[in-house]
Amino acid sequence: MAKTAFLLALIFPLAALAETPLSSSHEERLTHLVVQDCGSCHGLKMTGGLGSPITPEALEGRTVDGLQTIILDGIPGTAMPPWRALLTEAEAAWIAAYLLEARE
Ligand code: HEC
Repeated sequence: MAKTAFLLALIFPLAALAETPLSSSHEERLTHLVVQDCGSCHGLKMTGGLGSPITPEALEGRTVDGLQTIILDGIPGTAMPPWRALLTEAEAAWIAAYLLEARE
């Protein structure tokens, strides 16, 4: 699927950086992925669609670790897919922290 190829092209060059703190351009690309790919199910503002809302409010009380696991492994039996093949642990942790942060 063209979208998957695009995603792979986006993510693969980033994998090498996984063990170092993410650069700001790396963070920008992950932010883009969250809006484009997570947003396709969770809504562009993460307020929910096919997927449940994943705004900071909806995720209140959740931990980076817990969300990182959901992102990497998905939720079996639901439409929430595992992202382990596409995201490193560091990237998933960054996205988890990003989701928990208030933004406009
Ligand atoms: C194909 C659709 C789809 C895509 C793409 C998707 N999700 Fe989900 N996601 C879901 C669904 C559906 C659920 C709710 C599953 C359930 O019923 O518990 C969910 C649940 C979640 C949850 C748990 C929310 C909670 O309240 O426990 C998190 C966190 C999450 N997704 C993050 C993400 C992130 C981050 C991405 C992008 C990397 C993403 N999702 C991409 C469909 C999707």
